[in-house]
Amino acid sequence: MSNTTETELALLTIDGAVGTLRLNRPEKRNALSLDMLATLHEKVSALASMSDDRRPSVLVLTGEGRSFCAGMDLKAVLKEPGAPLRLLQSIAELTIAIRELPMVVLGRINGAAIGGGCGLVAVCDLAITTPDAKLGYPEVDLGVCPAVVAPWLVAAVGGTRARRILLSGGTMSGVQALEMGLVTEIVPAQDLDARVAEVASGLAKAGPHALTQTKRLLNEIDQGDGNERLYELVRKGAHISADVIGGPEAQQRLSAIYG
Ligand code: COA
Repeated sequence: MSNTTETELALLTIDGAVGTLRLNRPEKRNALSLDMLATLHEKVSALASMSDDRRPSVLVLTGEGRSFCAGMDLKAVLKEPGAPLRLLQSIAELTIAIRELPMVVLGRINGAAIGGGCGLVAVCDLAITTPDAKLGYPEVDLGVCPAVVAPWLVAAVGGTRARRILLSGGTMSGVQALEMGLVTEIVPAQDLDARVAEVASGLAKAGPHALTQTKRLLNEIDQGDGNERLYELVRKGAHISADVIGGPEAQQRLSAIYG
């Protein structure tokens, strides 16, 4: 089954037990605009509401073109005062919705994954990238606070590594991302598709019900206090980050690049 059109900002295709959700704004390196986020929400919600017998047991999350995702649309945040909060809230809800999907989410990280884009990497259950991919959270360099992604990163790599990554800013290579535990595997770029297909079909051989229950349990174990606390922090993060973006430091730095 395939339900895609050329112009959509996110494309969902389903081939048996493996679905693929592709961010589709390659000319802007798949930066998360409100329109694109709305399309992503629609696709994720369609996946979440599929009946047990129709839904794929694995979802490959990837980006069209040479980048996975350049993060929040930084041009949009300079346009109007309300834009940052709307964008950040939408990103926060998207990360929660992806984490809550009943299927295993496998990131195919086909290039740069920055800021909110790297937040999506941290939300994936497994992620495969290439040695030269550029991943990371340069928010503090831009005068921005990575508050929405911080809870996911702590859950993915632990507090000490998350501190090192978020407070240092900048980006890292795929090799370093593997060392940090942010991705689960790296392969040469020419092998990415074959390896993703291999891992996806391997995962799809498991019992779909067992996979769903195991993922649900892991989501809970991840957080001692249960997911409610994690999701609360992600939602609160949207407000913290929007406040920081609204301040003179971020506005000055962002305007210098994107104004
Ligand atoms: N928001 C809005 N537009 C973005 C963007 C973002 N986060 N990231 C990239 N773009 C746009 C660029 O402005 C450029 O637009 P233009 O063609 O109209 O000038 C286009 O995408 C291509 O970007 P470019 O930098 O030339 O692509 P690249 O392939 O050389 O590099 C990245 C790709 C992702 C490494 C680079 O674009 C980048 O670092 N982007 C910013 C990432 C970031 O800081 N994210 C947010 C952290 S809070």
